[in-house]
Amino acid sequence: MIDPVAVIGAGVMGHGIAQLFAAAGAQVRLHDVDTPRLEGALREVDRSLLLLVEEGVLQAQAASAARARIHPTTDLEGALRGAALVTECIPEILDAKHALFARVERVVAADALLVSNTSTFPIARLAEGAVHPERMAITHYFNPAQLVPLVEVVPHPSMPPGRVERVMEILSAIGKRPVLLRRDVPGFVANRLQAALVREALHLLETGVASAEDIDTVLTEGPGVRWPFLGPVEMVDLGGLDVWRRVIDNLAPELCREEGAPAHLRERVERGDLGAKTGAGFHDYAGGRGEARLRHRDRALVRLAELKRRLEEPPRD
Ligand SMILES: NC(=O)c1ccc[n+]([C@@H]2O[C@H](COP(=O)([O-])OP(=O)(O)OC[C@H]3O[C@@H](n4cnc5c(N)ncnc54)[C@H](O)[C@@H]3O)[C@@H](O)[C@H]2O)c1
Repeated sequence: MIDPVAVIGAGVMGHGIAQLFAAAGAQVRLHDVDTPRLEGALREVDRSLLLLVEEGVLQAQAASAARARIHPTTDLEGALRGAALVTECIPEILDAKHALFARVERVVAADALLVSNTSTFPIARLAEGAVHPERMAITHYFNPAQLVPLVEVVPHPSMPPGRVERVMEILSAIGKRPVLLRRDVPGFVANRLQAALVREALHLLETGVASAEDIDTVLTEGPGVRWPFLGPVEMVDLGGLDVWRRVIDNLAPELCREEGAPAHLRERVERGDLGAKTGAGFHDYAGGRGEARLRHRDRALVRLAELKRRLEEPPRD
């Protein structure tokens, strides 16, 4: 493992990442510029640890020990002093990330690892102006970071192989499933796959092919049932390459090719219907339904992880 760890930015992603390192035994300094965000982050960690205890995947004592290892602070330099790993989770604004990394580099030791949870910036742009780009990488977690196993890893091209391996080892040690990308592309792999699917789903909705409920049901009761166990490339192998050649040849010309977001998505955003967080999106989330759906998602993710773990265990005899 690695210790101590600094997590910078205690928003949607930062609190989950802090929880992961603390649960794996590291002392975690969780820094944010905003005290209420720090307090909110700790409440989220408490809620998430309680869920893990309720679901029987974490002992109550281990949960309180993990919680005690998270040290919230608004003092950036204090959070960074002596940190062996710094995970940046501030908003997706390049200038802000550059300014933060410049401050980080002034404080941390030369062998510290500096990683970013950026969703969109290439590592080369993030590291522009860095004194030691060879210690920088992207580690792209998924929301909720404490429950989704995948982390996509994009090291700076100058990072020595031994250090890349170290990043992968650290992520495995906190229970993640790291995937090392061979090349830096916008959206990495996971968001490209998701964006292709969401673009088509919203196109089908806009053109009246099915209702929002039915489009969601088609996925959760259809292809989505296989996806926790079977990726798209192996799915082609199992279905037959000849079959998929015909499927793609016949369907590709029919698929949505819009280069931007569809009009009905833009209109909702413009009138302030942003989904669960404002109470309305394509579905209705009034009366606490959004919060309830998020809690249901988290519990389902914990149980799914447990099911996958059991299925991957070798047979007893
Ligand atoms: N939300 C997601 O689903 C998701 C998924 C993967 C990656 N990401 C990426 O993770 C990063 C963080 O996203 P988020 O959704 O957690 O954002 P967020 O807005 O929820 O949280 C960002 C936090 O950073 C704090 N902050 C802002 N400037 C700061 C600074 N200079 N120093 C310290 N703290 C500062 C804010 O007060 C806020 O609490 C972004 O790069 C985003 O693209 C987000």
